[in-house]
Amino acid sequence: MSQHFDSDAKICNRSGNPTIDQVIAQGISRRRVIQGGVGAAALAMLGPSAAALMTGAAAPAVARDWGLIGFAGIPVSDADEIRVPAGYSFKVIQRWGDPVSAEGPAFAADASQTWAEQARQMGMHHDGMHFFPLPHGANRSDHGLLVVNHEYIDQQLLHPDGTGTWTPDKVRKDLAAHGVSVTELRRVGQDWVVQASPFARRLTGDTPMRMSGPATGAEALRTAADPDGLTVLGTLNNCAHGVTPWGTYLACEENFQTYFVNTSDAVPPLQERYGILTQSFYRWEEHDERFDAAAHPNEPNRFGWVVEFDPYDPESVPVKRTALGRFRHESATASLAPDNRCAFYMGDDARFEYIYKFVTNQPYDPDSRDANRDLLDDGVLYVARFEPDGSGRWIALAHGQNGLTAENGFADQAAVLINARGAGDLVGATKMDRPEWTAVHPVTKDVYVTLTNNTRRGGEGQPGADAANPRNDNAFGHILRWREAGNDPTATAFAWEVFLLCGDPANPDVNRRGTIDGDHFAAPDGLWFDGRGLLWIQTDISAGSLLRDHHRPFGNNAMLAADPNTGAVRRFLTGPRGCEITGVIMTPDQRTLFINVQHPGEGGTSPANPTELSAWPDGPEGGRPRSATVVIWKADGGLIGT
Ligand code: FEO
Ligand code: CA
Ligand code: CA
Repeated sequence: MSQHFDSDAKICNRSGNPTIDQVIAQGISRRRVIQGGVGAAALAMLGPSAAALMTGAAAPAVARDWGLIGFAGIPVSDADEIRVPAGYSFKVIQRWGDPVSAEGPAFAADASQTWAEQARQMGMHHDGMHFFPLPHGANRSDHGLLVVNHEYIDQQLLHPDGTGTWTPDKVRKDLAAHGVSVTELRRVGQDWVVQASPFARRLTGDTPMRMSGPATGAEALRTAADPDGLTVLGTLNNCAHGVTPWGTYLACEENFQTYFVNTSDAVPPLQERYGILTQSFYRWEEHDERFDAAAHPNEPNRFGWVVEFDPYDPESVPVKRTALGRFRHESATASLAPDNRCAFYMGDDARFEYIYKFVTNQPYDPDSRDANRDLLDDGVLYVARFEPDGSGRWIALAHGQNGLTAENGFADQAAVLINARGAGDLVGATKMDRPEWTAVHPVTKDVYVTLTNNTRRGGEGQPGADAANPRNDNAFGHILRWREAGNDPTATAFAWEVFLLCGDPANPDVNRRGTIDGDHFAAPDGLWFDGRGLLWIQTDISAGSLLRDHHRPFGNNAMLAADPNTGAVRRFLTGPRGCEITGVIMTPDQRTLFINVQHPGEGGTSPANPTELSAWPDGPEGGRPRSATVVIWKADGGLIGT
C-alpha cells in the first residue's frame, strides 16, 4: 500500500475571490479570451506559433518543425526501467541510503541502518536539484556539487518492519531521511564518481536553522523550545528548489502540514487555512511533541518557507527567508532584472492556491558574494491575478497596502508573510490548478508554470473553469506562460496565455482534450529551461492513477522536451514503475544531464514484499526500490536534446 499522503484531499481555500462566475458575468468566454481583444495582443507578444496552438490551427499536415529538438521521441512504457532515446546512455548514482561522502556508511538492503547512519546517507524521495561547479565561480562541467532535495519518505521502506513497533529512533530516522544532500562529483571519462569530500553534507528534519527577514521573532514563530522565534530545527518536504545568482541553493518547503497533527476540538484558523492534519499520518508527535500542533500551535508556522544555504560553505547555517512568504512552496525560480534586482517565481501547490513573486529591493552585486548574503530579507512579495483578457497583475502583499491592515486581521508584515495564503485571499488572487514548478526562458525571460491537475475544479461548492484554469475536472493539467511588462521581471503587469493543455487533442471529452503537438503527457510537474531554450517537462501522475483508466495511455511517468517556439513536444525518458520523474539540471556545457527518479514502487510496497511493484534500480536482490539520481549523456558527447 502506498504511504503517499494525499496532501490535497482537503480544500483549504474557502475565500470568495473571483471565479468563473464573475468571468461569465462579464460576458467573456474562454474562446474569446484566446481569439480576441487584449488576449490576442498578448499572444502576438508571445509569438505566432503559440497563438496557432491555442486557436486550433496547430497540428499541420506538412512535415513537423521539431525546432530545437534533435532526438527521436520514445514511446510510453510500463516497464520497470529507465528508457532514453537512441544515442543516449545513463548511469544511476546516489540512491537513497548511499553515503553522501564516499567514505560514509553503506546502505543496508534490509534498511537496518541507524538514524545516525541515515543522517550521513542520501535521504529518501529525491526531488529538485542543482549542479554547482567547483570551485565557486568556475564554469567547469567535470567537477561540482550535486545538491538534492528529499521530499518525503515511505516508512514501509525506511524501516525493516515498516511502521510496526513505533519508536523514538524511528522518528529520528524519519527526520534524518528528509532534507537536502550535498555530494561532490567528478567526471572520469564518461563516468561520474562520488568523492570523499569536505563539502558533503546532509541537512535533515533536525538541523538547526536561522529564521530571518520580517517575520523573525514574531509572536507566531515563538515556541516553548525557542521562546525568541529565532532558531528552528529542520527543513521538511523539500520539493523543488531555486538557485540564486550569487550561488546559493533554495530548498523549498512544500507539504509541511502532513507532519503536524491537531486532534483538539478547536483548530486555529491559521492551521485550518494551511491544512494542518486533524489525524496523524507520520505519528511523529508520539515521540517528538513539537509535532503536536495542539500543544505547540506555533511550531507549524516555522515551516512552509524558502530555506537558503550555501553549498560551498559546509559550516554555513541554513536560513529560512520569511520575506518570501509562507505557503506550500514548490520552487523559487530566479530571474535577474536589468537593474540587477532579482525576482523569484513561486507556486503554492494545492488546489485553488496561488502563484507568487518576490522581488528584492536591492540589486545583486556580481562582484561580492558577501554583499548578497541577506538580499532575500528585503523585498516585496506579490501574488498573481490572471485577468480573462490575457493581462495579469502582481498585487503586493505589503502591510498597509491593498487592504492588508490591522482592521482586516494583518497586524504587521510578519502577519502577512506567515499567512500569505490569507493575504492572497484578501487581495483577490487567482485560484490556480495546483501550481508546481516555474521556469524562466534564458533569453526572452518568459515565465512558464506547470498546473499539474485539479479534479475538484467545477465540483460542488468549488470554483469552475476560468480563463487561466480553463477545464473543469482538470485531470491532466496544463502549462501557462507569461511575459512581464517591458520584459522586466520586477514589473507589476504581465501578458499571459495557455502554452498547452495536456492530453490527446483527439479526445472527445472537452475536459480531457489537449493541445499537445507531438508526444502526449499528463500531470506536468518538474519544469526547467536548458541554456539552448529547450523546455524540459517532467510528469507526476499519482501512484493511484498511473496506468489506470484515462491515464493509461500516458504510461509510466516521463520526461519530455518542448520547443517553446514551435510548441513541438517529444518524449525523452520514461521511468520505472510507480515513480515520478522530478529534478533536472545539466552541467554548464550541457553535455551531462541529471534527473531524479522519485518513489519507484509507490503504491506497491510493504515490509513483507518491498519490491512487489518495482525493484528499481538494484533488482530483486537489492531488497527495496530506491529513489536515485540518473546521469545521462550522449554517446557522441553532444549537447543534450540534440
Ligand atoms: Fe512536491 Fe508539488 O510536488
Ligand atoms: Ca513537484
Ligand atoms: Ca509532485
